[in-house]
Amino acid sequence: MSTCPALHDANTLARDEGYWQRIAADYEVEPGPINFEYGYFGRMTRTVAEQYQQNIAFINRSNSLHVRQQFEQQDNLRIHAALAELVQVAPETVALTQSASAALQSLIRNYNAFKPGDQVLISDLEYDSIQNAMRWLARNRGVEVIEISHPHPASHDSLLQSYESALLRYPRLKLMVLTHVTHRTGLVMPVQAIAAKARAAGVDVVLDGAHALGQLDFRLDELGVAFAGYNLQKWMGAPLSLGVIYIQQDRLQAIDPDMAALDYLPHSIQSRTPYGTPNIPAWLTLPTVFAEHQAMGGSTVKGARLKYLRDLWVSQVQELDGIEVLTPDDPRLYSAITSFRFTRHADQQAMAQRLLDEYNLFTVVRAGSACGPCIRVTPGFTTTLEEVRVLVGALAELSR
Ligand SMILES: Cc1ncc(COP(=O)(O)O)c(C=O)c1O
Repeated sequence: MSTCPALHDANTLARDEGYWQRIAADYEVEPGPINFEYGYFGRMTRTVAEQYQQNIAFINRSNSLHVRQQFEQQDNLRIHAALAELVQVAPETVALTQSASAALQSLIRNYNAFKPGDQVLISDLEYDSIQNAMRWLARNRGVEVIEISHPHPASHDSLLQSYESALLRYPRLKLMVLTHVTHRTGLVMPVQAIAAKARAAGVDVVLDGAHALGQLDFRLDELGVAFAGYNLQKWMGAPLSLGVIYIQQDRLQAIDPDMAALDYLPHSIQSRTPYGTPNIPAWLTLPTVFAEHQAMGGSTVKGARLKYLRDLWVSQVQELDGIEVLTPDDPRLYSAITSFRFTRHADQQAMAQRLLDEYNLFTVVRAGSACGPCIRVTPGFTTTLEEVRVLVGALAELSR
C-alpha cells in the first residue's frame, strides 16, 4: 500500500497523463458514449472486478459452510477493522450497510431525542429520498420540517450565513441533514464550519457523505458531526450494494436499535440499521478495494485528478455567452461534479439529449435545486483530455 502524497505532489500527479493512462488501463470500459456521468457510481478496477467475481464463485461453491464457519467469525471482523482504518475512526463507531440511503434513513428513522414541538432542517440541495425521509419525521414523529433554499450563486460565506440565519430563526431546531457534496450541482459544503454552528445551537447533524468518500480529504472525527452515512460504489470503486453508517462514540444512545434488531447487540452500532443477509462476496472484496484506493494515491490524488479535469472544462466554458456554470470556482466548494445550464435554451433535458445525439456525450439533468434545472457533468478516472476537448467543443457550439 502506498501512503498518500502531499497535496503539492498530488497536484503534479493530477496532471501526469502517463500516470492516468496507466490507471485507465486497469479499467475495462464498454465502447459507447463518452461517459461524463460518473456521479452515479464508479467503475471497479479490473483487479477489484476479478476479485469480486472470484468471491461470487467461491461463496456460491462453499455456500453457508464458509459463511457460518469463517466469514461470521473472522472475515467479517477483519473487514470491519479495515473499514474503520480507512475512515480513521474507532471500530465501534462504524458498520457496513447496504447503501448510503440505508445508513441515512436508519439514522433519521431511529433518532430518539425529539421532544414535542421540535423542528428539523433540510435544504433544496439534499438528496431527494433523504428529504423525503426527513418529511416522514413530520408525519411519524410529530416534528415540523423547515425547508430552506440556498442562495445562488453560493459562496463559502453565503452557505454559512444560510445556516446561521436558519439556526437563529428556528430556535426549536433539533436535527438537520447536511450533504457534504450535493448531487445536484456538486457544491461541497463547508461541513466543519456549519457543524460547529449547529453544535453551538444544540442541533444534531446527520451528514450525507454519499459523494465524499474516496475523493475528498477529510477526517470524519474532525468534522464535528455525530451521525453520517456513506457509500463505497462512487469514488471508492467498490462493488454496488455497500454503504457505511457512522455514529459518534458517545451518541449511540440517541439512535434506537432498528425495529427488528431489539435483541440483537443493543450496544453495537450494527443494531442501528436493518439486518439482512449482506452481499457477502462484495464485503469480501473490500480489502482489495481499499488497497487499490491507496495504490492510486488515496483521496488526495484521486480528488486532485478529478478537480483538475473539472477545472479544465469549466475554465474553457464559463465565460461563454449562453453557458452558466452553477458551481462556484472557490476550490473549497467543488470536487468532481459541476453543473451548468444553457441560458439560451429553456429545456435542459432536450439539451442533454442533443449532447448525446450530436456529440456522443453522456451527462444527466438534475432538477430540484432552487436555482433551477441543470446539466451535471462528472468526469472519472478514465476520462481523457480528448474527451474533455469534445465536451468543451460541444458546449461552445450548442451555447450559441
Ligand atoms: C447526495 C446523495 N445522497 C445519497 C445518495 C444515495 O446513495 P445510495 O445509492 O448508496 O443509497 C446519493 C446517490 O447518488 C447521493 O447522491
